[in-house]
Amino acid sequence: MRILSGVQSSGKLHLGNYFGAIKQFIELQHQGDAFYFIANLHALTTVRDGQKLRDLTRDVALDFLALGLDPAKATLFRQSDVPEVTELFWILSSLTPLGLLERAHSFKDKTARGISADLGLFSYPVLMAADILLYGADVVPVGRDQVQHLEMTRDIATKFNLAFVPKWDAKDPDGLKGGTPGILKLPRAMVQESSAVVPGIDGQKMSKSYGNAIDLFDEDGPTKKRIMSIKSDSTPLEAPKDRDATPIYALLKLFASPSDMNEIERTFDEGGKGWGHYKQQLADLFVATFGPARARRKELAADHAFVESVLVAGADRARAAAAPVIEKVRAASGIVVARR
Ligand code: ADP
Ligand code: TRP
Repeated sequence: MRILSGVQSSGKLHLGNYFGAIKQFIELQHQGDAFYFIANLHALTTVRDGQKLRDLTRDVALDFLALGLDPAKATLFRQSDVPEVTELFWILSSLTPLGLLERAHSFKDKTARGISADLGLFSYPVLMAADILLYGADVVPVGRDQVQHLEMTRDIATKFNLAFVPKWDAKDPDGLKGGTPGILKLPRAMVQESSAVVPGIDGQKMSKSYGNAIDLFDEDGPTKKRIMSIKSDSTPLEAPKDRDATPIYALLKLFASPSDMNEIERTFDEGGKGWGHYKQQLADLFVATFGPARARRKELAADHAFVESVLVAGADRARAAAAPVIEKVRAASGIVVARR
């Protein structure tokens, strides 16, 4: 089973990225052939500063390694290290209906938030489809906001196979029932329902671009301050607390053990503890959970050569995985590239 996913290097990683995506990535590296990449080409839709993009790209690599990605088990690479992805992007663009892209929520959400409506942003899902299809991924672990992009990826792969694989049958996409297998494999999304949408400090979905994130690797002081500033209400200390009134309960649930959670639920229902108590508990759980990764990240940040060597080895493995797919795509679509 090939597992593949990516995270844009467009800002610092936060709790939503961890519980919605990266935690699964780390767990899945033991269950299949895992490929994870830093989507720096996608990040270009919002980052317009070369040095900043280089720094953020390296930061995401450090974050992954510090959080437990094992380069001996999983392949970690930079999206831009496999240029075939932009070639496949173009080939797929040529058969992607505009109507499909016009239905994308992410384009509407991002432009509504002031991100400029450029062609790259509009065609973002096609590059994402190329990312997934180039490596023949079976499973793509993502947060719920990316599920529509996976559906679009399946639609685009279907268009390609119908156009270029004679007798391909969408009801038997891999040829398991005796038909012809597609050149592009239809992937499926994997969403961890318990953490599909992690709320930010204001109760909205946590996002790099909403100013409501708790970053994973910020300094201790600012992290604590951020946790203490989570939205709460004026329920007095003695009174029972509403689980949905503030993001505090949902955030505690991400970290706390089942027995701690029983106790939290009991005191929420009975009252007797103030919001400050729960925020402090959250801050303690944050430190206990991410303390080791935070220390490891400091060590890794000092070892430039090691991090680069992981990315270079990852790029080699990714290119080897992409080669047979792009060869078949070129052959079927009639794109000739001279051998050198
Ligand atoms: P952001 O919205 O902060 O820019 P990205 O779009 O780069 O985050 O998301 C990277 C990964 O993290 C995706 O798989 C996405 O689904 C997941 N993710 C991001 N924010 C959240 C959240 N608040 N809750 C759950 N998953 C999230
Ligand atoms: N669009 C994803 C996000 O914003 C990042 C991404 C790019 C991705 N290419 C991908 C995720 C391929 C999974 C597979 O989070």
